[in-house]
Amino acid sequence: MTRYIVRPMRFEDIEAVSEVERECFTTPWPTSAYRRELRDNRMGRYIVLTEVQDNATVDVEPTAESNGGGVRRAVGQFLRPFSRVATSTIPRSKERIVGFAGMWLMLDEAHVTTIGVKRDLRGQGLGELLFATLLDLAMEMGARRVTLEVRVTNYSAQALYRKYGFREEGVRRRYYSDNNEDALIMWSDRLEAPEFQTRYREMRAALDERLSGIAEVHT
Ligand SMILES: CC(C)(COP(=O)(O)OP(=O)(O)OC[C@H]1O[C@@H](n2cnc3c(N)ncnc32)[C@H](O)[C@@H]1OP(=O)(O)O)[C@@H](O)C(=O)NCCC(=O)NCCS
Repeated sequence: MTRYIVRPMRFEDIEAVSEVERECFTTPWPTSAYRRELRDNRMGRYIVLTEVQDNATVDVEPTAESNGGGVRRAVGQFLRPFSRVATSTIPRSKERIVGFAGMWLMLDEAHVTTIGVKRDLRGQGLGELLFATLLDLAMEMGARRVTLEVRVTNYSAQALYRKYGFREEGVRRRYYSDNNEDALIMWSDRLEAPEFQTRYREMRAALDERLSGIAEVHT
């Protein structure tokens, strides 16, 4: 069975993230932009969605790093029940990156910079899982509100953001250079507002139910 994990993005993920990104956007970021974000932006948070085969938890090949005494330690980690496996212990060969998302905090505002899921996996709640994880991280980082830009014709992404109470508060004219399309500027409510918290908890509970046994978050 296939499962999905959301975990922090690492340098070695960048090539695979770029591949998925090319499926998602007409003007993907250069890989150097991701490298810079991961290396230099201490207020940035980037996450990936990986597809993992169940046997990844037990099928361990010793690596150079886990030679000798390290092997036992590594095997011990892999044999933990799936739900408790630390993501760092899943061998790279057993996971496939199928989505990504990122944001950065400026003062007390979190800006969602990117989000995408491989085309053939859309419509199952996985993009929502990435987005909800960003909201969790924004709250953890002390953001008061979250904002983002979205193409005026990107109705599916807008529906996702509206589901979490985001509203349009402006337009950036000709924001996208490939076709001069306008961007809607969307904002969340104040994250600590009871209305936001109530809605967020309801949406999150429904999502957890939908993805129960299929997806986990390790951030
Ligand atoms: C936006 C994106 C990440 C959504 O990912 P996804 O996995 O397909 O979305 P989910 O299945 O989690 O859907 C969550 C919600 O989004 C909205 N949504 C997603 N796809 C939709 C569609 N085709 N039509 C209408 N609403 C849609 C719905 O509100 C949905 O909630 P529901 O399942 O209760 O109806 C995905 O479409 C994508 O990668 N698009 C290309 C990249 C992109 O446009 N990124 C956004 C840039 S601002």
